[in-house]
Amino acid sequence: MVIGAGQMGGGIAQVAAQAGFDVIINDLTTELVEKGLTVIAKNLDRNVKKGKMKGEEAQAVLKRLKPSIFHEDAFDCQLIIEAATEKMEIKGKIFAELDKIVPADAILASNTSSLPITKIAACTKRPEKVIGMHFMNPVPVMQLVEIIRGLATKDEVCEKIKEIAAFMGKTPVECRDVPGFISNRILQVMINEAIWSLYEGVATVEGIDTIMKLGMKHPMGPLALADLIGLDTVLFILEVLMEGYGDPKYRPAPLLRQYVDAGWLGRKTGKGFYNY
Ligand code: CAA
Repeated sequence: MVIGAGQMGGGIAQVAAQAGFDVIINDLTTELVEKGLTVIAKNLDRNVKKGKMKGEEAQAVLKRLKPSIFHEDAFDCQLIIEAATEKMEIKGKIFAELDKIVPADAILASNTSSLPITKIAACTKRPEKVIGMHFMNPVPVMQLVEIIRGLATKDEVCEKIKEIAAFMGKTPVECRDVPGFISNRILQVMINEAIWSLYEGVATVEGIDTIMKLGMKHPMGPLALADLIGLDTVLFILEVLMEGYGDPKYRPAPLLRQYVDAGWLGRKTGKGFYNY
């Protein structure tokens, strides 16, 4: 089961179903699940039009995806990947509930981008079977899955999850449970620095992004990437880093906070550093 049918959860469900897994895609309402499935269907259709996938294959992938709005539907699932809202209270509640529903040997994974896996695991009675499985956005395209071991995660659980990530066509890389893990500890500092540079009037949005694209061969500039991730998420992760390390190098740029206050969250709201 994948919990959350949004940008990340939908992508994870798609990739898992493409790998041949039977997947239950779960969210709070039927509308949210349907919305997620529509995006997946569009992605698959694009692959068919490009000749990357046969029409029957795309249909088979869609058939492997079962909609759900009840956690109880996970009663016989071997693996749950949670990609719900990045709030500790929400994730804690989901994990505590699933722990009572899923089989004793099932693994509970979280796609959290920065919340402590050890803390999420502590909400269950099976912390040894809880792990971080952090996919990158857009999930169908990005090669990496960051694997985060909580304090109690067993070696065999880690090995199994790496095997599953590889089976999904991804490259798993292990990391310890520290604030921001590796990906966001490094990435968000770069994005924040780009926003500070903009705030200080060092260069324009386009200027900053072009420098990083042409000079550093990044596929997209840090400000465009911030818009893709969501500026609320960028701010949230910087706050986790700031609180976790207590180091002012993670201090979010005031301009970032202002954009979030304005509701300019990037692609998802149609406006961020760019207009969409
Ligand atoms: N879903 C599915 N497929 C997508 C997609 C999406 N949302 N967006 C793009 N693609 C596919 C396209 O269909 C295209 O496929 P083909 O090669 O088969 O034609 C391919 O990706 C390339 O897309 P485009 O030609 O449209 O554009 P592009 O070459 O500029 O690539 C990009 C777009 C893949 C997003 C690229 O710019 C990129 O890699 N950007 C960096 C993304 C990144 O850094 N992601 C990590 C974010 S951090 C994170 O996720 C972790 C966190 O915790 C915050």
